[in-house]
Amino acid sequence: MRLLTSSLLAVATWVQAILAAQSSRTGYAIVPYDRAPSNYPGAPWSFQPDTTRQRICHVPVAPNGGDSAPAIIKAFQECGHNGKVIFDEHQIYHINSVMTTTGLSNVEVDVRGTLLWSPDIQYWLGHSLPVGYQNQSTAWIFGGDKVHLYSSNQAGNFSGNGQVWYDFISGQPHGQQSNYPRRPHQITFNGLTNSVVEGLNFWQSQMWTMTLIHSNNVLLQDIYVNNTNHKHELDFNTDGADTIYANNITFARWVVDNGDDGVTWKANSTNIGVFDSVFYSGSGLAMGSIGQYPDRYEIIENIHVKNCAFHNTWNAVWAKTWTGVQKGYPPNGGGGGKGIIKNILFEDLTLDNVQQLWYVNQCTSFSGQVGDCNTSKFQIQDVTVRNAKGTVTQNYAAKLQCSGAAPCFNMAMENINLTYQGNKVTRYLCDFVSSTIGFQCTQHPN
Ligand SMILES: *[C@@H]1O[C@H](CO)[C@@H](O)[C@H](O)[C@H]1NC(C)=O
Ligand SMILES: *[C@@H]1O[C@H](CO)[C@@H](O)[C@H](O)[C@H]1NC(C)=O
Ligand SMILES: *[C@@H]1O[C@H](CO)[C@@H](O)[C@H](O)[C@H]1NC(C)=O
Ligand SMILES: *[C@@H]1O[C@H](CO)[C@@H](O)[C@H](O)[C@H]1NC(C)=O
Ligand SMILES: *[C@@H]1O[C@H](CO)[C@@H](O)[C@H](O)[C@H]1NC(C)=O
Ligand SMILES: *[C@@H]1O[C@H](CO)[C@@H](O)[C@H](O)[C@H]1NC(C)=O
Ligand SMILES: *[C@@H]1O[C@H](CO)[C@@H](O)[C@H](O)[C@H]1NC(C)=O
Repeated sequence: MRLLTSSLLAVATWVQAILAAQSSRTGYAIVPYDRAPSNYPGAPWSFQPDTTRQRICHVPVAPNGGDSAPAIIKAFQECGHNGKVIFDEHQIYHINSVMTTTGLSNVEVDVRGTLLWSPDIQYWLGHSLPVGYQNQSTAWIFGGDKVHLYSSNQAGNFSGNGQVWYDFISGQPHGQQSNYPRRPHQITFNGLTNSVVEGLNFWQSQMWTMTLIHSNNVLLQDIYVNNTNHKHELDFNTDGADTIYANNITFARWVVDNGDDGVTWKANSTNIGVFDSVFYSGSGLAMGSIGQYPDRYEIIENIHVKNCAFHNTWNAVWAKTWTGVQKGYPPNGGGGGKGIIKNILFEDLTLDNVQQLWYVNQCTSFSGQVGDCNTSKFQIQDVTVRNAKGTVTQNYAAKLQCSGAAPCFNMAMENINLTYQGNKVTRYLCDFVSSTIGFQCTQHPN
């Protein structure tokens, strides 16, 4: 953790304490929700008293590496209301089939062991479950109200066996790599409300690590995601977390090392926070892609990112919309969608060897297609980036490729202190930015 000594020294005292106490394996230490700082929405959370959860199910491991999914589903059926579901310590639960555990209520789920997904690509491509957006699919749909999903021994592991997927995807034609049909997300939270997810480790997710859809009032803290491809190739679409039709979701103290978006907000993501987190080697924090469906109006509003560090990522923060010209169909084609990205605040960012601090691109299109960058009618406005420091690998602070059909406005950048090869960065690249605050566009992107 090079960042410990270099970049994060200026953060609040309690974050320093956490980092100082970090374990060598995961690079962070967990703060139980009842001791978490109260500045996160939902923390500390007051769950119902323990006496209301007297049904306790210890999930048995299927013998001989057999499929534990049926036993897991049964445990949630028996103890998923006013109960506890416990995955035992030192156990490996092989998961060879899809799971749906929804409609839970007032339940504690304590993951003390490891859930390990099978590498049987053909099975998953034939059986993965629909997520409900962009033809995405998943290995596990999980939802309920007042759910506390955590790891009491801080060892809870979700292992996706993703290496087989990374190898498989790298062998596919370029146009199929991005969203390979029915490649599963590790877990999808659907209809998760008033809940806390904390202290879990996610290893080599098959695709996106987790999706939150139709979810409201959720705090996810002390989460470690490491989707590193062991063959040093790109691992496309191994996002840390995606939000879709989600409101009031807080991500705090995450560590993400992956090959794509760290945390990303897609269609109708509102009131989302990302705090005190560190991102390694992926693309940074993303808004979008969005605007893929010509018949839809979608929004990303009220996003607050504070005190995050980026290490060898592509961007720190970015926004991506599809062009205004529809080419092909989802998942890998589309465009022409309308909507708005509005009221966004990114502050206290530390960059280490990052290409650029703030990137807007309204050129997303079907694989292989280029151009039409000035056609998107998707509006981006009222975005502030302030208090950023560190090093970039391109000689500009921001590259804002907004669309001529709907220029960006009220774009603010304040107290930006970046260096490129030892020199202070003073360039801001802009297309179709109609009003700036705190900086001036110096040239167009080429
Ligand atoms: C947001 O969610 C948290 C739980 O994470 C809850 O405590 C808080 O009241 C919610 N805020 C609003 C405005 O509903
Ligand atoms: C994606 O879903 C749409 C329906 O929403 C369907 O028309 C389309 O064929 C699907 N694409 C693929 C590649 O399955
Ligand atoms: C969790 O997974 C990591 C990486 O595979 C491993 O090092 C660690 O021992 C696992 N923890 C447990 C409790 O199995
Ligand atoms: C992620 O795992 C790789 C090994 O697979 C390791 O080299 C790297 O340091 C880990 N990243 C973090 C942030 O812990
Ligand atoms: C997304 O948000 C927009 C604007 O509030 C709304 O019109 C639309 O119905 C929402 N879409 C869904 C699927 O909820
Ligand atoms: C978009 O770009 C094309 C060619 O680059 C140009 O002719 C057109 O005027 C532009 N439209 C707008 C709205 O800027
Ligand atoms: C900008 O950062 C450099 C290097 O980290 C530091 O020496 C300098 O004091 C900073 N300037 C301001 C105005 O914060």
